Amino acid sequence: MMGETLPGACRELVTMPVGNLLRMPEKLSFIDAAALPIAYGTARRMIETRGAIRSGERVLILGATGGVGTCCVQLAAAAGAEVIACGSAAWKLGKLKEIGATHVIDTSQQDMLKVVYQRFGKPRYMGGGGVDVVVNYIGGNTWVPSLKALRHQGRLLVCGATAGYAPAEDLRYVWSFELQIIGSDGWTYEDQTDLMNMVVQGKLRPVIHSARPLSQTPQALQELIDRKVFGKSVLTMTD
Ligand SMILES: NC(=O)c1ccc[n+]([C@@H]2O[C@H](COP(=O)([O-])OP(=O)(O)OC[C@H]3O[C@@H](n4cnc5c(N)ncnc54)[C@H](OP(=O)(O)O)[C@@H]3O)[C@@H](O)[C@H]2O)c1
Repeated sequence: MMGETLPGACRELVTMPVGNLLRMPEKLSFIDAAALPIAYGTARRMIETRGAIRSGERVLILGATGGVGTCCVQLAAAAGAEVIACGSAAWKLGKLKEIGATHVIDTSQQDMLKVVYQRFGKPRYMGGGGVDVVVNYIGGNTWVPSLKALRHQGRLLVCGATAGYAPAEDLRYVWSFELQIIGSDGWTYEDQTDLMNMVVQGKLRPVIHSARPLSQTPQALQELIDRKVFGKSVLTMTD
């Protein structure tokens, strides 16, 4: 994975194994194609293959404003789920609704768990309340509230840990509510080729925050660090 297990691809020239190459459909733009690998493939595997999100399910997505998140929102909404999407700034919330969120939570102003309890009720051992699925790649202090937001036999999907991989745990919720913690990692060749075709067919829209020249890599990175990005930042070679 370039940028993680290998040096990143913010270069004019890179070498990589030929098996990493994907043929782009003719009508796909380079900017849309660049936004898909990693984040969108990961979202597809998590929402569809591992999470098996079904129509009518309530799906709470933390960090929904990022690369993985904006694709999770779109795929879960397309599956017919009721999506509750979290973001850390008011300007991001309207955009979450535009891409398919039914409800939004401003985590800079609101307590995520309180909002879930107010809207859907507190989960009960015998059923009722809470959400069916939580998508959490944030970890840290969001982990235990995510367990508490799930209904009896709910599912927690995890593919990362932006805010900490060794969070506090509360096993009482895992056994009492018979929760399932489902890990998801990476994507397949088919995931990635299907995603490209979905974009060409108008079934999926890569959310592009900005597309700017390679020389502006530091600014693009700073925006990510400052949590001022909605979707993907793309770097182009047209300086
Ligand atoms: N396993 C895999 O195959 C795989 C593949 C891709 C990504 N991942 C993991 O998935 C996660 C998301 O990746 P991404 O590319 O979507 O990242 P991203 O574009 O930076 O989005 C992450 C979102 O999380 C929120 N966030 C950022 N820092 C945070 C913090 N300290 N505490 C709480 N929320 C924070 C931000 O939203 P707000 O500011 O709006 O809250 C941001 O939009 C990462 O942990 C990444 O390592 C795993």
